[in-house]
Amino acid sequence: MNDLIVRNSRWLSISAIKDGYDGTISVAETSKSIPFEIKRVYYIYNLVHHDNVVRGKHAHKKLQQALFCINGSCSVSLNDGTEQQAIELTEPNRGIYLGPGVWSTMSNFRNSCILLVFASDFFSEEDYIRDFNEFLRYSKTHSA
Ligand code: TYD
Repeated sequence: MNDLIVRNSRWLSISAIKDGYDGTISVAETSKSIPFEIKRVYYIYNLVHHDNVVRGKHAHKKLQQALFCINGSCSVSLNDGTEQQAIELTEPNRGIYLGPGVWSTMSNFRNSCILLVFASDFFSEEDYIRDFNEFLRYSKTHSA
């Protein structure tokens, strides 16, 4: 598994409990496996045009998120304004943390991908940066 070089991003592991019965249980808990208080959960599914769909294409100013591909797989491309990196989400219990100031795009949705996202705050369009050039300007003035 490649290390993440993009600022404010890192791999997350959650449990995968096999209790002797059929199936696996994975658990995400605030402050334990998820490094923020979870205020919102959403999921992306029904990706019927998956061959040419690219989602995301934005960064957040304050929002923290944890992304898990809980069915199928997808690619996530990350950019902090300096470094960029592409990763694959292929395991339901192996996700990524995405902090503020990371431009992300999701693509290559495969095998009925379901992308589950935990977020640190309620939805706010004001927190989005949707223009890439604006993001590059923002990241220059907000890099830690
Ligand atoms: P967006 O975050 O741009 O999706 P993605 O990054 O997956 O491409 O959201 C798509 C639309 O859904 C946009 O109109 C905003 C709306 N939306 C909400 O209303 N609430 C939410 O919690 C989310 C994540 C999106």
